[in-house]
Amino acid sequence: MKVLVVGSGGREHAIVWKLKQDGRADEIFCAPGNGGIAQDATCVPIGAMEFDKLTAFVEENQIDFTIIGMDDPLVGGVVDAFEAKGLRVFGPRKNAAILEGSKAFSKELMKKYGIPTAGYETFSDYEAAKAYVEKQDLPIVLKADGLALGKGVLICQTKEEALEGLKEMMIDQKFGKSGTKVVIEEFLTGPEVSVLSFCDGKTVRPMVSAQDHKRAYDGDQGLNTGGMGTFSPSRIYTEEVAKTCMEEIFKPTVAAMAKEGRPFVGVLYFGLMLTPKGMKVIEYNARFGDPETQVILPRLKTDLLSIMEACVDGTLDQMDIEWYDNAAVCVVEASGGYPESYEKGFEITGLEEAAKRDDIVVFHAGTKAENGKFYTNGGRVLGITGIGKDLQEAISIAYEGVELVHFEKKHFRHDIGIK
Ligand code: AMP
Ligand code: GLY
Repeated sequence: MKVLVVGSGGREHAIVWKLKQDGRADEIFCAPGNGGIAQDATCVPIGAMEFDKLTAFVEENQIDFTIIGMDDPLVGGVVDAFEAKGLRVFGPRKNAAILEGSKAFSKELMKKYGIPTAGYETFSDYEAAKAYVEKQDLPIVLKADGLALGKGVLICQTKEEALEGLKEMMIDQKFGKSGTKVVIEEFLTGPEVSVLSFCDGKTVRPMVSAQDHKRAYDGDQGLNTGGMGTFSPSRIYTEEVAKTCMEEIFKPTVAAMAKEGRPFVGVLYFGLMLTPKGMKVIEYNARFGDPETQVILPRLKTDLLSIMEACVDGTLDQMDIEWYDNAAVCVVEASGGYPESYEKGFEITGLEEAAKRDDIVVFHAGTKAENGKFYTNGGRVLGITGIGKDLQEAISIAYEGVELVHFEKKHFRHDIGIK
């Protein structure tokens, strides 16, 4: 079987790595991929938003199955473009990816179907939004409706901050069109957990849980990033919590989408918060999380392609999905300065040493290969995943990996996995 993976980050490297481990795919392609992915797949220089070029490549090369990793193409309708040509593709259609693409849509769905989430109001009118903020308790949360690279959420401690934030989103359009509509939400507290699930439109099968570390510096200090590290399983996601989530959140969401004529096929990501009033949905994503995928897929025993095919074929209820009873921790090595400005082009050393270890996997997020050497080429450069019998062991192994792999101005958090 020939498989194409669309995307270029650590998440896509983890998907390609897992496909290669499973051995069911005879040939793996990645568009556009990156320097490290090129070790495990044939990279083709087509951007994730170039739908016509992607479908043409798939037709010309008789690719049997395509997996979409990123949110932008999904929200933009890449699955619909593939299906229009009769091509097999894994991911939600545009009318289901809206669960990630519009926060106003997802909040409305949760309200309509009684799925627990923070109280909120949606506004397209700036004056009305201002008047509403004036009357609310603090802190208050502002969210740009559309995709904003994870930066469209502001937690405001004062009225002044909230009014300034509203102006930036709605008037100055700091997040472009994404912010012309805003969701204003009640501030919740509690630990967060990510539960990703496989869906075939009717059945939902949760994966093992994970926790992300979004802030740039130790102790959750500094700016929000795409994610500085993850671990799996989460300590707060007990079997009892999982059961409640299944009945109150996962099944109701998938049923609601089906009822709305928007069956969700693909990976549905539940961003959850365990509040004093129980588990609530903070956000939905319509794809694998990054870097959650770098700790989840190494724990999956069953072959990934079979699960994805079952999703596309609507036979997920018959699928036996097995996980290893272990733990994984991923520490992101980023370019110093990320998520603000940083330099690129530094040589990466120590990758061969790390490759000798079977309990360490190095996923490439922003790297470039030239003359057999690897160079930094992005904010998040590598994800170093350690696999152990429990979290404590996985943490030690991941940090042994971090000690092996170097580049100039390397920045990483020292506290991944200990929350
Ligand atoms: P989101 O992009 O919706 O996941 O939001 C990014 C981050 O903002 C989340 O991971 C939370 O840490 C935080 N956040 C979002 N919504 C709320 C809320 N209602 N109350 C408290 N924190 C929130
Ligand atoms: N790690 C968070 C996300 O993928 O959205």
